[in-house]
Amino acid sequence: MDEKKVIFSGAQPSGKMTLGNYLGAIKNWTLLQDEYECYYSVVDLHAITVPQKPEVLRNNTIELLAQYIACGLDPEKNTIFIQSHVKEHLELMWVLNTMTYMGELNRMTQFKDKAKKSEENLNAGLFTYPVLMAADILLYQADLVPVGEDQRQHMEIARDLANRFNNRYSETFTIPEGYMPKEGARIMSLQDPTKKMSKSDSDPNGYILLADDSDAIVKKIKKSVTDSLGVVKYSDEQPGIKNLLDICANFSGRDPQDIAAQYEGKGYGAFKTDVAEIVVEYLRPIKEKYDYMLANKDYLRDIYLAGDVKAQEKASKTLKAVYEKVGFIPR
Ligand code: TYM
Repeated sequence: MDEKKVIFSGAQPSGKMTLGNYLGAIKNWTLLQDEYECYYSVVDLHAITVPQKPEVLRNNTIELLAQYIACGLDPEKNTIFIQSHVKEHLELMWVLNTMTYMGELNRMTQFKDKAKKSEENLNAGLFTYPVLMAADILLYQADLVPVGEDQRQHMEIARDLANRFNNRYSETFTIPEGYMPKEGARIMSLQDPTKKMSKSDSDPNGYILLADDSDAIVKKIKKSVTDSLGVVKYSDEQPGIKNLLDICANFSGRDPQDIAAQYEGKGYGAFKTDVAEIVVEYLRPIKEKYDYMLANKDYLRDIYLAGDVKAQEKASKTLKAVYEKVGFIPR
């Protein structure tokens, strides 16, 4: 039997999971879990690049893990673990740091955006964030990395570093590919459809959380910013409507243009009502499972403890090879 190809991906416990996280990435994780050997991490080391309250970080970490399971990740099929429990991520990061150019990190648009927003917290961790992400991916020899569109540049660095290391020493790392959904790779804010939906948005009406109750979801969709054209059309000139169509298309597997055609002659009100219903119905079982998981914290602990061991097994093999190639004397 052929060996399964490998997937690595992760999300930061810097808040609760949004509809953007789900449609851009986590939904694909669940769709790919049968075909691939999958590693899914709660990337807490990444989260502290912005200041976190310790108690809140601890809660967010467990809640994110609960959401992974609630979204349909099967802990029997996947290795689900906490990033800070596998120290190899930091060790490989150091080696890769010494091979990353300042210039290539300076070009990262996410760093530039974050730098603008948080001048008072322009720490070195924010700058080298993509190197840690490359270490995450390369440690597991991942072939595929299901992520949203905002991670495209970070994926490029991961690929470049893998190639650079392989060329400098010898074939060591698999070159990873990003994997994005057709519609939903970039879900936009409901309040400003030119900005991506983000859990760190100061306006909660901009995002839908998987943990939101039905009333909140309906309200947020009804309030979402559209335009004054009044025609449901899949067009870049109508980013608010386009975003809602992308959400529907991703959930239903239908073509966004076909969905738009269904609303010919109808106003935005009817369209928004239907979008809200689709989202509420889709998220209902996820929310129920999430509440159940949170009431079973011991089970969540068992999941990450088992995942940590499996992840470390694979990670330590890669790191050993890397250390040897670099010229470190084995202990
Ligand atoms: P994070 O925690 O910001 O987001 C988790 C995943 O959700 C995707 N995403 C979106 N997709 C579509 N529309 C949106 N509005 C939206 N917002 C977020 C993200 O692209 C991501 O796939 N750097 C990563 C975490 C990470 C990682 C990794 C990912 C660390 N190491 C290694 C893959 C592989 C991040 O900040 O994701």
